[in-house]
Amino acid sequence: MKAPITVSVTGAAGQIGYALLTRIASGSMFGPDQPVNLRLIEIEPAMGALEGTVMEMDDCAFPLLNEIVPTCDLNEGFRGADWALLVGSVPRKAGMERADLLGINGKIFTGQGQAIAGNAASGVRTLVVGNPCNTNCLIAMNNANGIPNEQFFAMTRLDENRAKSQLAAKAGVHNSAVTNLCIWGNHSATQYPDFTNAKIDGKLVTEVISDRAWLEGEFISTVQQRGAAIIKARGQSSAASAANGVVDTIRSLTTPTPEGDWTSVAVCSDGSYGIPEGLIASMPIRSDGQNWSIVQGVELDDFSRTKLDASVAELSEEREAVKDLIPS
Ligand code: NAD
Ligand code: LMR
Repeated sequence: MKAPITVSVTGAAGQIGYALLTRIASGSMFGPDQPVNLRLIEIEPAMGALEGTVMEMDDCAFPLLNEIVPTCDLNEGFRGADWALLVGSVPRKAGMERADLLGINGKIFTGQGQAIAGNAASGVRTLVVGNPCNTNCLIAMNNANGIPNEQFFAMTRLDENRAKSQLAAKAGVHNSAVTNLCIWGNHSATQYPDFTNAKIDGKLVTEVISDRAWLEGEFISTVQQRGAAIIKARGQSSAASAANGVVDTIRSLTTPTPEGDWTSVAVCSDGSYGIPEGLIASMPIRSDGQNWSIVQGVELDDFSRTKLDASVAELSEEREAVKDLIPS
């Protein structure tokens, strides 16, 4: 039997937490032969609800679940973590943009970054889900002294999955036929789901879907506004699909990317594609199962460049808005 991986999850009693924990403990995230320890972090008022979630986890009798520790103490919660999944934060309500949450949620990520640096395993990798996830990740990364920037990620995989599903439906093919779909920029209404480089059954999407007006218009806005559409329909933000996005992100980072393909995740920019260094921006990524790299040489036409620049400008504005939370 392999040694267990320790996964810390914040906001574990919330909607996404509820959908996510069973996926981790059942082996969907790290594979069917990988035991896991779960360290579940909540704020004090939600500890009762977390107790209920833990009871349900016990009742699943998961063969791969080695240990489960519920806590509202950040140091205890991140102790020995190999993965820190930062979900805990307030979701937006109808009519809000995700960036409107910055004032409420941003400060959560200073203490969490510090606690990760102080307690987690040195190779800990952190995925931020709580919104606005790119800039919350920026805050956590800059407060996690000593943890390399390459070990921080923010989630845009849900957007990638949404975009693939829309393209597949339009082309009348299965989701799995859509590859090379990159979400560029921010997990926000400015994100750019890049149809110009995406492929369907190995052919450029633009050769398969001739309706350019749909690609430039309805397709992009549907993906950009999908989170808001779900809030309008459910009265609550996405949860099962968000949890699935977390599982997909981590599987994609921990298994080799299929030949010729890439996946979307927001990472610390090294200046690639003219994205200012240090911003957490979504880009095309490949993994060899251990290490990841930004795919270079993806062509951006004028349309794509304008879209990417707008999203990057928004990320720069968000960084400016939280500068007090980032140690100099
Ligand atoms: P939720 O309100 O159901 O649950 C959030 C949980 O976080 C609550 O249980 C709350 O007690 C807890 N929490 C709040 N502050 C905390 C803190 N400081 N430490 C630990 N826990 C804390 O919300 P949800 O639906 O699970 O969504 C969580 C976040 O994920 C929201 O910000 C939402 O907007 C975001 N989200 C992001 C994506 C994405 O694609 N990046 C997708 C869906 C949702
Ligand atoms: C989503 O994309 O579903 C989440 O970011 C939740 C939201 O506020 O849209």
